[in-house]
Amino acid sequence: MRFPENFIQEVVDRTDIEELIGRYVELKRSGANLLGRCPFHSEKTPSFSVSPGKKMFFCFGCHAGGSVITFVQKAENLDFPDAVEYLATRAGLPLPKENDGENRGGVSRKRVLEMNLEAAKFFRACLFDGNLGRDAMHYFCEERKLSVATVKHFGLGFAPNSWNSLTDHMHRLGYSDEELIAAYLCGKSQKTGRAYDLFRNRVMFPIIDPSGNVVAFGGRVMDDSKPKYLNTSDTPAFKKSRHLFALNFAKNCCAEKMILCEGYMDVIALHEAGFEYAVATLGTAITPDHARIFSKYTQKVVISYDADEAGQNAASKAMRILGEVGMDVRVLKLNGAKDPDEYIKKFGADRFRRTLEESKTGFDYKAERIFSKYDLSVGSDKIKASNEICALIAEYWSPVEREVYLSQASARLELPVDVLKNTVEQARKKQSRAAAQQRSREAQASVKKYGDQVNTEAARDPRATTAEETVLGLLLLREEYRHAVEKREIELSTDDFVTEFNRRVFAAIMRMHGSEHGLREELLGEEFSPDEMGRIQRMEIARQQLTENGPPVFRSAVQVLRDIREQKSVKESSLSDRIEYLRKKRKST
Ligand code: CTP
Ligand code: MN
Repeated sequence: MRFPENFIQEVVDRTDIEELIGRYVELKRSGANLLGRCPFHSEKTPSFSVSPGKKMFFCFGCHAGGSVITFVQKAENLDFPDAVEYLATRAGLPLPKENDGENRGGVSRKRVLEMNLEAAKFFRACLFDGNLGRDAMHYFCEERKLSVATVKHFGLGFAPNSWNSLTDHMHRLGYSDEELIAAYLCGKSQKTGRAYDLFRNRVMFPIIDPSGNVVAFGGRVMDDSKPKYLNTSDTPAFKKSRHLFALNFAKNCCAEKMILCEGYMDVIALHEAGFEYAVATLGTAITPDHARIFSKYTQKVVISYDADEAGQNAASKAMRILGEVGMDVRVLKLNGAKDPDEYIKKFGADRFRRTLEESKTGFDYKAERIFSKYDLSVGSDKIKASNEICALIAEYWSPVEREVYLSQASARLELPVDVLKNTVEQARKKQSRAAAQQRSREAQASVKKYGDQVNTEAARDPRATTAEETVLGLLLLREEYRHAVEKREIELSTDDFVTEFNRRVFAAIMRMHGSEHGLREELLGEEFSPDEMGRIQRMEIARQQLTENGPPVFRSAVQVLRDIREQKSVKESSLSDRIEYLRKKRKST
């Protein structure tokens, strides 16, 4: 489905970029622009810049960039038309008539959310059906000891042991096989191509986002069969790395802290016991996306993973990822139970509350893990332990923190502070060298990867690519250059472009320039992906400083492209043409 260009324009005009992006990122004024921490990659110092004047954004760290539409595409994982629709709804603009029909290729996010809601109601009705849901209700209330109020609160349900009960129900409500499959509520039969129920004989946990949409489901078996859980894969309405179970409740009482668990059942047990600020990832390790969600809602996260080795290793990783976005991270090690669910059942809420208050800071937790590996009365063990502890302390950026941990370590290891301090300083030097190398490796890799993704031919001819980007950046920035090219005051055509991507950008700019409304960068998003939009923004931003020297730089970049083209055509032409060319060239100089 394509929206008319003037409608897209209207949507962009009506969107306040500062307010839109401000919902995801804390923005501070910096000259004409706004600056914040990029929502698309983890960072501590702000490199994400928003221009309210141009209604564009750009991150100097990860090179994400584009219009308000591009922003919504990336932030909400939507395609271009869906992002336009999202912003239109937000701005209270009715959609143009043509879009009301069902003629869209994919299934929209809105439609998937509608289906999910219907499915959640269906699963709940099955659970509360005295006959159909008897075993499932027994599982929740007897085996897992949940109250009926909790079952209702979380909207839990039951998917009957049938291949078609949900499918038939949804057909009756007017949803097609195709839609049900796109929503990941149904599988597609290999033989007939028809939809069948994906969740069968499972208790169902709906995943509800902070706005109250049912975005996905987790379905658990009621015995020991495998797989234990079946979860919704990514759909137009859902990406698992971006959601947290029970955030819809936790968001209302997380001012002080949140608890991060591994399992749905842990979260439900904690909420029932009064810890309504507990959440869990959806069967995946925590990602930087999750970390940013946490940082949006709270300052402190207590990680309460399973007590086993796997759980504790995962906790260490989670600690690092949450630390990277500046969170105060604590870790709970529960003794005498395998997970928070079991702990609460065994020891009660009060005892859990106490351990929560005693939860260890990242340093204490990590230090404890190091000390517990060694026998400090043995010399060689003591050396290993102190080296590891010093390497750990060296990671702390604040001298005050290092000082505090040094004195703790010195007491525990019975070694003088100064000796340890030396080791820490050495470790710091080593780490900062390693970090610098790592950064340069990453920068190179990202250039490579970046080139690969957006302009695959960039590496083949860097000189031409740079010239192209200069030309395009200036064309984007200033109408006068577009005019000059249009009026042939400057000779430049698609044939002058070496790389395919830049040729496409040039063609799009000039086409739009020639149209009635002129160049509208946000409309480029219809033709170019969010990554490509980022590259286009980068070309433009990098040339912003050139306003004074613009004309000569533009001319010489065009000249470079013309030279390259001529050389190439000479190489390709026959020998006689070549002699002719050389003769001409001699004459002209
Ligand atoms: N998980 C999953 N697929 C599996 C196993 C686990 O997606 N096959 C995810 C689920 O989100 C689950 C979490 O990992 O909630 C933790 O797994 P586990 O501890 O095995 O399950 P619990 O939910 O804690 O269930 P229970 O207490 O019933 O064992
Ligand atoms: Mn568990």
